[in-house]
Amino acid sequence: MVWNRSHLLDIESLSSEEILTVLDTARAFKAVGERVIKKVPALRGKTVVNLFIEPSTRTRISFELAAQRLTADVINFSAEASSLKKGETLKDTARNLEALNADIIVIRHSASGAAHFLSRFLKASVINAGDGAHEHPTQALLDAFTIREMKGKIEGLNVTILGDILYSRVARSNIWAMTKLGANVTLCGPSTLVPKVFEKMGCRVTYNVNEAIENADIINLLRIQHERQRKTMFPSLNEYTSLFGLTQARLSQLKPDALIMHPGPINRGVEIDSDIADSKRSMILSQVTNGLAVRMAVLFLINGGQGPHGVAA
Ligand code: CP
Repeated sequence: MVWNRSHLLDIESLSSEEILTVLDTARAFKAVGERVIKKVPALRGKTVVNLFIEPSTRTRISFELAAQRLTADVINFSAEASSLKKGETLKDTARNLEALNADIIVIRHSASGAAHFLSRFLKASVINAGDGAHEHPTQALLDAFTIREMKGKIEGLNVTILGDILYSRVARSNIWAMTKLGANVTLCGPSTLVPKVFEKMGCRVTYNVNEAIENADIINLLRIQHERQRKTMFPSLNEYTSLFGLTQARLSQLKPDALIMHPGPINRGVEIDSDIADSKRSMILSQVTNGLAVRMAVLFLINGGQGPHGVAA
């Protein structure tokens, strides 16, 4: 299919064909990353600004490396050292970056809708690198890429997302991506963090962790988003671990080929046992590796690339 979007703001508005175009293009870029010379000139002469107003390790660094691999000029905006600290607005900040010829702005912000907001007045392309509890589209794309790479398909798989769903942008983007690609999605966690209203997105909601994990092909664990919770949503972390954590005892209930995923950062000993996080069944670092290829694909497509066939040129 022909890709004709100049922004990537969410997964909700993407078709399954568009999602698959990103995944196919990312597969071609992963092959590029296995060559001796890992760079291609697709974004030569373009400027990519990483406008991260919230902390990030994986997303910011992989967008930076992805832009470098595509031969773009890359600016990493530091919120702490910027005039945001003097009261300059996000809109004025972004318009100043555009005045300096930014072609693509990758934004992470604590406010839901921040990326959509920028896209309404900028000529530059906008990529959402996580906006509040709304969406984190490239995380869902790299998760889908990892699942397809490991399982050969997504359609028909049972995907369980376990943890703090309510405050998670990763959960929302994954629910959209997995349901659009034909997976059966189950959500599980404390009832305060997994409201039944999520069933309207086409998921099953259960508070019984055994039921949630026993037939799962994929367990995607989420951390507790303390930074977004405004009140205590469960009694204690110890209680959370005993009721919903992926412990060694629960590991033995999984299908032998079930994969364990987590977007990171992980809280060892809370949502996941430390040894499980480091085990062969854990996809956590593969997800990070695949994030580079997926973000190269997104930058390439947003800049006018037309899918996997144009990658090698
Ligand atoms: N998964 C993820 O978004 O991690 P970072 O916050 O480190 O970017």
